[in-house]
Formats: sequence, structure tokens, C-alpha cells
Amino acid sequence: MLLLGLETSCDDTAAAVVRDGRTVLSNVSANQDAFHAKYGGIVPEIAGRRHLALLCATAEDALGRANIALSEVDGIAVTAGPGLIGSLVIGVASAKALAFASGKSLYAVNHLHGHIFAAYMDRDEEPRYPLLVLLVSGGHSLLAEVQSPTAMRIIGKTLDDAAGEAFDKTARLLGLPFPGGPQVDRLAATGRADAHAFPRHRPESGTLNMSFSGLKTSVRYFLESEAGRRADRADVAASFQAAVVDVLIDRLRRALNRNAYQAIVLSGGVAANSALQRAFIDTGIQYGITALVPAPRYCTDNAAMIAAAADRQGEAVRADPLTLTADPNLPFELHAAPTKVQS
Ligand code: KG4
Ligand code: ZN
Repeated sequence: MLLLGLETSCDDTAAAVVRDGRTVLSNVSANQDAFHAKYGGIVPEIAGRRHLALLCATAEDALGRANIALSEVDGIAVTAGPGLIGSLVIGVASAKALAFASGKSLYAVNHLHGHIFAAYMDRDEEPRYPLLVLLVSGGHSLLAEVQSPTAMRIIGKTLDDAAGEAFDKTARLLGLPFPGGPQVDRLAATGRADAHAFPRHRPESGTLNMSFSGLKTSVRYFLESEAGRRADRADVAASFQAAVVDVLIDRLRRALNRNAYQAIVLSGGVAANSALQRAFIDTGIQYGITALVPAPRYCTDNAAMIAAAADRQGEAVRADPLTLTADPNLPFELHAAPTKVQS
């Protein structure tokens, strides 16, 4: 299938043209960071308005770069949730209008399912199931078991902050600009990861859940202390990053000790983190299991991954252009098509 993907769940306005779920003909993203940076975080109202201003041009750009006319695509895939409602509705309303006007199929994709397939973009291999996915972004931190493109479940998740949120908040404490994840990553490269022993969350027995709020608070108290004021910022960044990576990799290993998987997949914006990538790949080597990390452009939010998920999920996510609605709390498990096509 040749699909036009649209993604507007958070603050990236993105469109892509993808063939057969993995050959990316174009992947365009209009970054809004400049509009949110001065507020130190994403302002939902601004995000929605920017999507409205940018989406048409972004979609036209994606089609133009792929040298594909809308009449040539087989369908339109859009993120239906989860995400910010004011952002989601812009993508969903646009996709519905495009599908209705062009008579093309409409696919309503769960944003998190998109992240699962991001590691397979521009690669020749297809996923072999079951997969164990560590999805870490600004809004989510979870471990998911994926049995097939349409059967998946969350086996562990954050009890408070998402890993990306912890990076962004800690970056702020360190006086670094938003979004802080990449900045902490860069600063940490020159620091000592063993300089400060920040706490690592331990899961309740039998669970694979994680928590980052205690870590963030501990970094804050340390920075406010006498020793903290004198501490090298790079050492603090590296020690914080090591604590996040330790928690994520600990939960990954616990999951691997429980069940056999064909591969482990890292995804979400935090998947771009260099220390996490190294530890993830090392874990794959230790367990003798394929470890896949998406290319950086597919780690953060993008529309290619949305088209990729739609291609693999097909009829299960087919939606009606007249009745599809955005759902900020769209469930992770795919029980049924969000809106069945009326025949
Ligand atoms: O997946 P994503 O683009 O958006 C959401 O769906 O949330 O993830 C964005 C998050 C931000 O919190 C950002 O700081 C974090 O990913 N991030 C990183 C790195 N690059 C992006 N965190 C740590 N290290 C990085 N290199
Ligand atoms: Zn995301």
C-alpha cells in the first residue's frame, strides 16, 4: 500500500508518504520548539494553533517530495490518539476531509503503535513476533509485549513521570533550554556517570513498573544543597542519565528473564539518547537477542511511523471519514476498529 501519514498528537506537525509500511518516500516534520521554548514546555493551545497553520503545507510538502499526487495514494493514515486533544483534532479533521473528498481509505492509528514500528522504517526486515518494546518518550514510558501488529499489551509502565519528562525537568534544573533531553545527553557526554549516586526506583515484587519522580526530586534537592551548587553540571547530568538508563534497562532485563522474545525494540523520543542506546544494544548482545533502535529521525514523533502502523494493521484500524473522532485517551490494546466503516 502507498499511504499518506499525518501526525499531530503533540507539538510536531508531520506528514509522510510510505510504501508498504517501510519504504519512506518522504518524511516531513515542522518543528514547533521555537514557539514553546520560552514557556519551558509545550503549551497545548499554541500546539493546536500551529498544527492548523502548518498541516496543509506539511502534507503538500510530503506529497511533493515523494513526487506523488494525492490521487495516487491508497489511503490516509492519521494519529487518532493518545495525545493532546487540541492537537489531535487538527490531524483527524484534516485526514477525514482528505479521505472523504478523495474517496481514499482512512486509517486511525494509535500513536504508540506508530512508535513500535518506527524501528523497521527504511529496513528490509519485517518484525518477527513476539516483540518486547521499550517505549520512552515525553509523554509515555512503558514496556509492551507485541504478539502481532494488532495484538499487544502493556506489561510495565511509569507510575508518575515519563522518562522524557524527567529529562526535560532535570534539564530545566540544570539551566538547559527546552526540550532538555538532547541537551542533557550532550552535557552528560563530558561528565562522570558515577559522580553522584542518585536513587534508582525498584519495582514492587512481580511488577515491571517504573518511576522517575523520586529521582528528579533527588536531583533538585542535591542542586539546592551546598555541595550541589559547587558540583560540576556535566557530572550531575551524567549521573542523572545513568540512573534513568539503569531503571529502564533493569525493567527490560526483568521482562526478558520472564519470557522469550524474537527481538527487543527501543522507541520514542528518548530512544535517541546515546547512553540508553548503548545499554540497550549491550543488553541485546548479553541475551543473544536482536536489538533494534530506530534511526534518529524515527525516534521522535513522525508521520512515517503512523503510515507504517496503518499498513500493518490494515482493516483493524480502518475508520469512517464521516464519524471518526480523536481520542486523547485511546487505549493501547486494539480491541476493535475505532470506528467501523459502514458498508
Ligand atoms: O516521542 P517524542 O518526540 O514526543 C512524545 O511523544 O513525547 O519524545 C520527546 C521527548 C522529550 O522529552 C525529549 O526531551 C526527549 O524525548 N528526548 C531525549 C533525547 N532526544 C529527545 N531524551 C534524552 N536524550 C535524548 N537524546
Ligand atoms: Zn511520541
